[in-house]
Amino acid sequence: MEKPNTVTCTAPVNIAVIKYWGKRNEELILPINSSLSVTLHQDQLKTTTTVATSRSFQEDRIWLNGKEEDITHPRLQSCLREIRRLARKRSKDGDRASDSMRLSHKVHICSVNDFPTAAGLASSAAGFACLVYTLAQVFGVEGELSEIARQGSGSACRSMYGGFVQWIMGEEDNGKDSLAQQVAPETHWPELRVLVLVASAERKPVGSTSGMQTSVQTSRLLKHRAESVVPGRMEEMIEAVQRKDFAAFADLTMKDSNQFHATCLDTYPPIFYLNSVSQQVINLVHRYNRHYKETRLAYTFDAGPNAVIYTLQQHVPEFVQTVQHFFPPETNGGEFVKGLPIEQVALSEELRQAIGLEPLPKGISYVISTKVGPGPCVLEDPTQHLLGSDGWPKKTL
Ligand code: DP6
Repeated sequence: MEKPNTVTCTAPVNIAVIKYWGKRNEELILPINSSLSVTLHQDQLKTTTTVATSRSFQEDRIWLNGKEEDITHPRLQSCLREIRRLARKRSKDGDRASDSMRLSHKVHICSVNDFPTAAGLASSAAGFACLVYTLAQVFGVEGELSEIARQGSGSACRSMYGGFVQWIMGEEDNGKDSLAQQVAPETHWPELRVLVLVASAERKPVGSTSGMQTSVQTSRLLKHRAESVVPGRMEEMIEAVQRKDFAAFADLTMKDSNQFHATCLDTYPPIFYLNSVSQQVINLVHRYNRHYKETRLAYTFDAGPNAVIYTLQQHVPEFVQTVQHFFPPETNGGEFVKGLPIEQVALSEELRQAIGLEPLPKGISYVISTKVGPGPCVLEDPTQHLLGSDGWPKKTL
């Protein structure tokens, strides 16, 4: 048997500070407003994907987190079709002959997330970004790939870049101008830190795809938001990032998260993503900021109850201590914080009283501490392939 051509890549999670919610075209995944996100560091959270092509493969196949999934899923098909289209175009334009051979070959795809589904992080963003990036490597396709990742999952287009990334909504009906673009690289604001507060497992909330569909159909607030609020906010947010103005960045982030959840409530029937733990986090953050007479923390929530906190490095130890106090964990805090190490500090009586909330035991199961990170990358070490030299998933998965 001929040895498969195999490539493995990783891609990051991103967390929006100006939210994407609502499509104007379901199939091409074109949004009703632009959005902006921060790419999280892959040392803490990432998807790894291996793609192999071989003449001996009978059909396209995909394994996600150790389980074979349906390759005929329309969004997977869109990504595969678009990459093959670009590859065909490239080989017609006279590039390497070996590429054109490979074009007719079937693919085996194997992908794993290194973060628990319970963390409620949009795994589809990192997943589709990684799929598209890896397929492009295998088929020798270069250039603008965010347009293809977008067709897997809207937010995935923003995971194609590191640092601070905007998804420009575009105007064309064919989606050619609906692309992600880096606003600032991951080195731009080294003090910025991100804490994911994982709320204890709840029932599965309404998925983003169907949730935003109902919002577009029923919420007039969403229409107002997309037309009259987000355009101005995008400009202000880009400026805040460029100036590294934390207070401006944080205020916009919180207001935008709140407005997104207000549009969910304005959806009919309403959608509730925030729970009592989320509300306690929101109160805690505002009381903390008020105590210091300065915006030191920002929260944001996606389609679930987990909070993502943005802050600056110097405030992390005290804030984590505050979280531990107001959400006393099950264990003695041993495994409460994962990711970047955090210095232990004492919580002042003054701050505790200023916050003055009733502790919610076990409300948060753990915290992932991370920072801004780079976009997708290729893993050169062949021992990291998820598919064996025969092109089938390794047994250890
Ligand atoms: C609340 O990208 O998951 O996280 O395009 O239907 O796949 P589809 O939706 P998805 O929606 C993400 C929504 C959000 C906000 C955001 O990331 O901007």
